[in-house]
Amino acid sequence: MDFPLASMIAGLVVLVLGTLASQPEARAFFVFGDSLVDSGNNNYLLTSARADSPPYGIDYPTRRATGRFSNGLNIPDIISESMGEESVLPYLSPELTGDRLRNGANFASAGIGILNDTGIQFVNIIMMPKQLEYFHQYQQRVSQSIGAAETQRLVNQALVLITVGGNDFVNNYYLVPYSARSRQYSLHDYVRYVISEYKKILRRLYELGARNVLVTGTGPLGCVPAELAQRSPDGSCAAELQRAANLFNPQLVQIVNQLNTEIGTNVFFAVNAYRMNIDFISNPQQYGFITSKIACCGQGPYNGIGLCTALSNLCPNRDIYAFWDPFHPSERANRYVVRQILSGTSDYMHHGNLSTILATIDSRIAAVDYKT
Ligand SMILES: *[C@@H]1O[C@H](CO)[C@@H](O)[C@H](O)[C@H]1NC(C)=O
Ligand SMILES: *[C@@H]1O[C@H](CO)[C@@H](O)[C@H](O)[C@H]1NC(C)=O
Repeated sequence: MDFPLASMIAGLVVLVLGTLASQPEARAFFVFGDSLVDSGNNNYLLTSARADSPPYGIDYPTRRATGRFSNGLNIPDIISESMGEESVLPYLSPELTGDRLRNGANFASAGIGILNDTGIQFVNIIMMPKQLEYFHQYQQRVSQSIGAAETQRLVNQALVLITVGGNDFVNNYYLVPYSARSRQYSLHDYVRYVISEYKKILRRLYELGARNVLVTGTGPLGCVPAELAQRSPDGSCAAELQRAANLFNPQLVQIVNQLNTEIGTNVFFAVNAYRMNIDFISNPQQYGFITSKIACCGQGPYNGIGLCTALSNLCPNRDIYAFWDPFHPSERANRYVVRQILSGTSDYMHHGNLSTILATIDSRIAAVDYKT
């Protein structure tokens, strides 16, 4: 009597495991970069680059400041949302343990750049080499519960987003007149140097197992309210920063192409963030904004001076402002950017949009499942 019951239970276990295995796993998501994609790592650091007090987060589901440099959701949040998944936690969050680790992690840190000397004025931030080291550490932690082979599969199949570079201009080369870097390099040579360092970072990401990497270029750096306030008497985009973005972005596309050719397949996907942002910056009304020059939260001309704090001017309706604070787009603007990442044409996404990238990952996963 005991034997058939035991085998029935064993049969059930096999059935249940079989069902679990054939279910598509949640896709992991890893994020690297600066304040445009930081979801709260800097909250855990002694740094001045933080967004952990009101009115940041005023439109976030909890209505609380989380460390995101947005009134609500940021770009990684909206990408997760469109994949039908929870937002990934900051790597430094104590809640990122156990099963949640398998959803991925966000390593981004506000203030950082491609170069190690970018953002040093913020004191304690997670520079790019450290973000990559944490990615390695993350994989060791996950290995302990699911093994090295499964961990590698999880990382290879994951989506990766890296957003970095703007600060190498805003918070380094152009931070002060006669900055060390601007005395050392012409803008032209500086961009070449920054790009060559970026190529090393992308190579390292590949070595660490990243296989589906969205690489965003910079937005129109001269058009943000902070630069209008400091450098634009007539409200037109500041020319020097625009020159920097226009040198940087095409060279970024070049190194992405070079790396893909070296590897022999498309691992890196260049995101034309400049184009996505300039759409609503040059034509705000068409996108439902009343202005793309004045930040919702801030003070001084264009609300572009200093930081967004509880004492700043604050607009009543964040949805009609392209910029939330002097540097960062509103959630509404972020949604437009993610829509283009997901389904934009080749003017917006080189080598295919996220919908096509995800379909490719899924077909590879299905092929592997079929074989095993
Ligand atoms: C940046 O720092 C890392 C270690 O923290 C170092 O390995 C790397 O060489 C540095 N990069 C440059 C360009 O100095
Ligand atoms: C981008 O994605 C959409 C699906 O959302 C697809 O129909 C379209 O053809 C893609 N565009 C390009 C240029 O790949």
